[in-house]
Amino acid sequence: MEVLEAIRTRRSIRQYKTASVDNKAIELVLGAARWAPSWTNTQCWRFVVVRDSKIKSELANVLSTNNPATDAIRDAPVVIVACAELGKAGYYRGEPGKPGEPATDKGDYWYMFDVALAMQNLVLAAHSLGLGTVYVGAFDAKKAATILEVPQGFCVVGMTPLGYPAQEPGPRPRKELSEIVFYDKFGSK
Ligand SMILES: Cc1cc2nc3c(=O)[nH]c(=O)nc-3n(C[C@H](O)[C@H](O)[C@H](O)COP(=O)(O)O)c2cc1C
Repeated sequence: MEVLEAIRTRRSIRQYKTASVDNKAIELVLGAARWAPSWTNTQCWRFVVVRDSKIKSELANVLSTNNPATDAIRDAPVVIVACAELGKAGYYRGEPGKPGEPATDKGDYWYMFDVALAMQNLVLAAHSLGLGTVYVGAFDAKKAATILEVPQGFCVVGMTPLGYPAQEPGPRPRKELSEIVFYDKFGSK
């Protein structure tokens, strides 16, 4: 599948078949994530591949109330949880043993950006293999970190179920380019 076609046809998938996903496919989507660009190539992302039903169920329980992805996190054959090492993205390189200073007024937030880039590679690669995903951001990240035993210095950013789609949703609406693109100065059409 071409990149543009993958971008255009990907959808958030919230219903999954029970068919398992083989390790080769998981390696391919994680491999795509790995090739994402990152702040000074610090690659702050880490991924936890969850197949264990009990852990998936525990993760589903920390999603926001009425989160439409709750059943998907519980029932999909695989959940991939994206984590970030803090103090890398957005920072000047520190001396050995001494952390660097934030390089911009966005402080540490660049880890969100880097993990998102990796996750977008992952979901597009998954789609190109016929696998479904849905970004899940509305959950208690501290509780998720406890469930997964994420160590100090790292945090949980987001997660997605991964599996074969049991639904074919149509496209969600998008704003017209004329609403979101300006020329030379913000607001100038
Ligand atoms: C940062 C982020 C967080 C999201 N969190 C959730 C979530 O918690 N639960 C959910 O069902 N969908 C979640 N979504 C999916 C969006 O609702 C979805 O991408 C959007 O409605 C557009 O639909 P599409 O992905 O099918 O194009 C999230 C998407 C993004 C980018």
